[in-house]
Amino acid sequence: MRLHMSMDWRVRLRVPFYLLWLSVVGFCFPQTTFAGSRIKAQYQLCKKCHGLNGEGRYDIKTPAIAGLPAWYVVAQLKKFRNGARGKHPQDINGVRMRPMSRTLNAKDIAGVAEYVSKLKPTKPVSTVKGNIAKGELAYAVCKACHGANAEGNQVLNAPPLGMMNDWYLISQLKNFQRGIRGFDPVLDPTGASMVGMAQTLKTEQAMKDVVNYIFSIR
Ligand code: HEC
Ligand code: HEC
Repeated sequence: MRLHMSMDWRVRLRVPFYLLWLSVVGFCFPQTTFAGSRIKAQYQLCKKCHGLNGEGRYDIKTPAIAGLPAWYVVAQLKKFRNGARGKHPQDINGVRMRPMSRTLNAKDIAGVAEYVSKLKPTKPVSTVKGNIAKGELAYAVCKACHGANAEGNQVLNAPPLGMMNDWYLISQLKNFQRGIRGFDPVLDPTGASMVGMAQTLKTEQAMKDVVNYIFSIR
């Protein structure tokens, strides 16, 4: 009591403030760690297929996802979930991704996309041979949306391409051409807009040329 009486009035004023602060921290902290650990746990699942550092795995045909912009990851996870992507019976790889998206609710999708976007992009190694000069000519069309350095353009919903695996870019160009991806202009207008673009690349070699060029400018 004597100690209390002898307290400076400024210290006394601060006591309720500290108590309030402690209760605010106590209230918020378990929640943030809970949300954080939930997202981390969800990402553990992604890692099993997309690689330890999100670098992608050729053996099971999963693309690199590390560092993809959150808006693009959200868009793709929603497409997988609502069947705009990964539902076509010939989409043997997309079909494997679809159930994953269905384990996530809208809030999880936002959280996991944010998490993925903060991972360091892994710059996958080049695996296909092509003619860079020819690829540059073909890329003139792509540049308008994907950017001069293949950095992507959020306003046009066009993802960056330089951080993806070259074999994956080719597989997606083929999917667009074959009507396996972007097949539903109502559910998936942005995917549908890529179909005509992919059709400008007439041969597999033309696709290899363009992805070689993309790797040279990334
Ligand atoms: C069972 C394996 C598997 C798991 C687990 C998995 N994925 Fe996938 N994911 C795939 C496959 C396969 C593809 C490629 C689909 C294709 O070829 O069209 C893919 C594609 C994607 C794409 C599209 C990338 C692009 O640029 O087109 C995103 C984004 C993605 N996955 C995010 C995730 C996230 C986030 C998780 C964790 C919640 C996850 N994946 C878990 C197999 C998996
Ligand atoms: C009119 C704008 C536009 C042009 C031009 C364009 N794209 Fe795209 N591209 C997009 C959009 C939008 C998407 C995302 C589709 C989605 O949301 O699923 C995309 C997606 C892609 C993907 C899939 C990437 C991934 O991670 O899954 C590849 C590969 C691609 N484009 C390559 C090309 C190439 C090569 C060209 C030139 C021949 C080209 N694009 C021209 C708008 C464009």
